Amino acid sequence: MDSVFTMLKKYDQEHLIAFMNKLPENMKETLIRELDGLDWGLLDIIRNKDSKEGRGEISPISVLTIPQIKEKEEAYTETGIKAIQEGKVAAMLLAGGMGTRLGCKGPKGVFDIGVTHELYIFEQLFRNAMDSAEAAGKEFPFFIMTSDKNHEETVQFLKDHNFFGYPAELVHFFKQDMAPCVDFDGHLLMESAGKLATSPNGNGGWYSSFVKAGMLPVAEQYGVEWLNCFAVDNVLQRICDPCFIGAVLAEGKVSGAKVVSKADPHERVGVLCLEDGKPSIVEYYELGEDMAMAKNEAGEYLYNYGVILNYLFRIDKLNEIIDKRMPLHEAEKKIPYVDPDGTAHSPETPNGYKFETLILDMVHMMDDCLGYEVDRNREFAPVKNKTGVDSVESARALLKLNGVEL
Ligand code: UTP
Repeated sequence: MDSVFTMLKKYDQEHLIAFMNKLPENMKETLIRELDGLDWGLLDIIRNKDSKEGRGEISPISVLTIPQIKEKEEAYTETGIKAIQEGKVAAMLLAGGMGTRLGCKGPKGVFDIGVTHELYIFEQLFRNAMDSAEAAGKEFPFFIMTSDKNHEETVQFLKDHNFFGYPAELVHFFKQDMAPCVDFDGHLLMESAGKLATSPNGNGGWYSSFVKAGMLPVAEQYGVEWLNCFAVDNVLQRICDPCFIGAVLAEGKVSGAKVVSKADPHERVGVLCLEDGKPSIVEYYELGEDMAMAKNEAGEYLYNYGVILNYLFRIDKLNEIIDKRMPLHEAEKKIPYVDPDGTAHSPETPNGYKFETLILDMVHMMDDCLGYEVDRNREFAPVKNKTGVDSVESARALLKLNGVEL
């Protein structure tokens, strides 16, 4: 108990003592337990957020282009199929996000994207996974990361729908960690009198949450060596795509990233490149006009390949980096909170920060990464917004283009 109070003092969070003093004994203990489990180092990062290190030297990376893949498609696919058959590959669905842009109440995967009949996002993803499983003649383990905010609903929904025909015994859920929310002065906010305000800690926390949740032995039991991570919202994505897996293995890389040729030099996607000679992803707003427009002698854009959040990672390499701190990204948000006197506030303008780590930062921690180009019309239909770019409408159009009946 002492240590929590010491930490509150050390990290300038003594305002929480006022909350504790008003709580009944059992709630006080719960709050102390929550604080005891807090990653205090996170508050250090938050305090020093203005002195973040800048980027290293950025240079273009060469990727395996669609014509190059075509040339070796058969051999790559064979290698990938063998890896699936040997149980070496598992799917890792990152579904802990809040889907705020789409404005759906529940988990994004339960969103119905159908027109004349129901077609849930989760349903489409399992269909896509079945395509690869059928090609390999074997289903693979399917891990799903949820968060405190959507776990029960996700699990119940998938059980109610019988995992859309995917073998239930291969599906494993785990919850991602939460990160505390702070006000603009770095003070922890309270969601209710006895509970910290928290939010999912971003998709970069997936591997540490996976290990913490005891999933590593589960993966090892199947003999899994590679994890194919992907977002919940790209309804066209190939899951455990044999050709992609085979290419990463055959090219002797420790990770791979599916990329698309950018729709225009300013498209809002992270760009795969090299940073100080190591693979890295630079966000579109960090790229700058000169780099976005830079071309090689053949007239091709040098920073042309955008990531689509579909990665392959080798587990032994993930274990090497698991203790490394990932960069923390803060976002100003409206965070509901309570006062020590119990008054609840729902701010109409941002009042603090939420913090996230991003999976794209993991790529820079890998020794190498195979950029693997895919056709955006065949594999990239993210459902981020209600309308416009990357929306329900655009995803429906792309699903139709690919022969999916809506
Ligand atoms: P996004 O960055 O698009 O976030 O997530 P989001 O929460 O789905 O949507 P917005 O930004 O609130 O509108 C990309 C992928 O990473 C997952 C999401 O579920 C999605 O599959 N993710 C995101 C997590 O698993 N955990 C997180 O904390 C954040």
